[in-house]
Amino acid sequence: MCGIVGYVGRAEAGPILLDGLRRLEYRGYDSAGVAIVDGDHVETRKCAGRIAGLSKLMAEDPAAGTYGISHTRWATHGKPTDQNAHPHFDESGKLALVHNGVIENYAQIRETLLQESEHHFKSETDTEVLAHLVGKIYDDSAKGVTDPRRHKALLVEALRSALQQVIGTYGIAMVHADIPDFIVGARRGSPLVLGVGKDENFLASDVSAIVAYTRDAVYLNDFDLVAVERDKFEISSLAGERGNHSISKVEFTAEDIKKGDYPHYMLKEIFEQPGSVCDAMRGRLSLEECTAKLGGLNMTPAQLRDVGRIVLTGCGTALHAGMVGEYLIEQLAQVPTEVEYASEFRHRNTPMTRDTLVFAISQSGETADTLGALRESQRKGYRTLGVCNNVASTIARESDGGVYMHAGPEIGVAATKSFTSQVVILTLIGLLLGRMRHLSTAEGTCIIEALEALPEKIEQLLKTSDQIKAVAQKYVDATGMLFFGRQLNFPIALEAALKLKEITYLYAEGHPSAELKHGVIALVKPELPSVFIVPDDAVFSKNLNNIEQVRARKGPIIAVTTESGAAKLKGIADDLILVPDADDAVMPVLTVIPLQLFAYHLAVALGRDVDKPRNLAKSVTVE
Ligand code: G6P
Repeated sequence: MCGIVGYVGRAEAGPILLDGLRRLEYRGYDSAGVAIVDGDHVETRKCAGRIAGLSKLMAEDPAAGTYGISHTRWATHGKPTDQNAHPHFDESGKLALVHNGVIENYAQIRETLLQESEHHFKSETDTEVLAHLVGKIYDDSAKGVTDPRRHKALLVEALRSALQQVIGTYGIAMVHADIPDFIVGARRGSPLVLGVGKDENFLASDVSAIVAYTRDAVYLNDFDLVAVERDKFEISSLAGERGNHSISKVEFTAEDIKKGDYPHYMLKEIFEQPGSVCDAMRGRLSLEECTAKLGGLNMTPAQLRDVGRIVLTGCGTALHAGMVGEYLIEQLAQVPTEVEYASEFRHRNTPMTRDTLVFAISQSGETADTLGALRESQRKGYRTLGVCNNVASTIARESDGGVYMHAGPEIGVAATKSFTSQVVILTLIGLLLGRMRHLSTAEGTCIIEALEALPEKIEQLLKTSDQIKAVAQKYVDATGMLFFGRQLNFPIALEAALKLKEITYLYAEGHPSAELKHGVIALVKPELPSVFIVPDDAVFSKNLNNIEQVRARKGPIIAVTTESGAAKLKGIADDLILVPDADDAVMPVLTVIPLQLFAYHLAVALGRDVDKPRNLAKSVTVE
């Protein structure tokens, strides 16, 4: 969702700003633009559509200069048109600003501006109103001031004063034609990071945009403003206090975010799962004590023993991981656990007990609804923990503790490796809490062994990618798909349906298998295949009944099953996708992977833009 890049240094800004935008493409966008200060004026190029279009504009009509800002926009206010693309200018045309987030009171600000002086708005965006407001405050305060050093401070003050009037969320970068080698940034609700280089500095929505240039980063907090020059930067709060931030080392390198030989990031990330699953549990298992060790929770054994209830909250794929977690934690630890859509949880009055622990699950650590749920829980005094992938993300920083996924950068919009890492971590949490209660050493050992065997089993599974591709290609004419599973594999049905929707644009639904007969069966027809997730487990025979119900109504059946399950399904299912046998507790990690591959291969066969599916954003930082 919207991306910002800013550069001030000695190199040509254009290529760096464009390169940064390309690296942020995965966040999702529908238009893009650049503003570079060229001498005494700001040159801007912007257009609706892909960055390739903006690149072409820049190639045809280059903009020269060593400082500037750029942006990818995911439309909220106003359609994705050339006019609405950022950067936006103030009335003077000298100040250019890019913005992520939503200015909720923009209509009122616009009204006031129009009453006070003449303003010509060229777009339908809330951002342009903000640019006009900052520009007006700056122009009024800079009148008659000749000292150029004062202009820098006045520009920062103008932004501060404008933001004090704003209701809403923002990540901002801004330049002014009269103030050389100077960019200003601010954040509230939309992430912004400062990249510290040698004789050059950067601003970006996330570090992947700038990691090719520097791995030294300062993660800004909400209500921070930052004034950035080539060789220095100064952070202050919205209230005007000086900030004291430390520089962190980015964990990954530019190499880690390359596609390598893979045609798509999504495929690369699916194939990374033997390693990412391993990294999620590395150093966190104790065979000696038959339990998990999760120091990042920042809780004593006594506090962990006192946990009476757990709420798992998140959105999209993270929510589905939470649903697997609910089954697992209740099964292993018998601690009452609930999964809540973050967007619902934050606005409702869920009954909570004092001993409730809230987990915010989020790959990016920036999802607005999940962050909102976390903050609301904190406001009410509950202990909140994060399960995040992005180190130093807002959720990771604001929670009382947590568990990092260590899955490495996930660029494909459709989440894959982050899901399996989340599930592994929730298994570790269940194991830890279980072993503090009633779970025996033998049961603990069994879970640990099952977890440790996972990477090799995933390797084995990935070798069948071509077979899964052949199955997927058989269904290119399907009008949609239904997914069914029971128990721990019910959330996998939801996740598999989500993957299919996201990247093939086919209609898909996931259900508990037994719900079939309570309505969904009315949809069954030859053009609508049903995918059953049916390892040969305790509920296999129940699933078999449901499979027969679909078959009787001429619905094609694809079964994801283990070898012994396959033997029982011969002649019943139209297509079989095999997964290695494993303990029920870890089975969801294995059953989801072939379905990630299935969605991927079907999307490719349908010619979809797998890594950048239409309308979707990787990190949704608006409500
Ligand atoms: C967006 C993405 C989904 C993701 C969800 C939650 O909707 O398109 O793939 O599952 O956000 O993201 P998070 O970063 O909080 O895990």
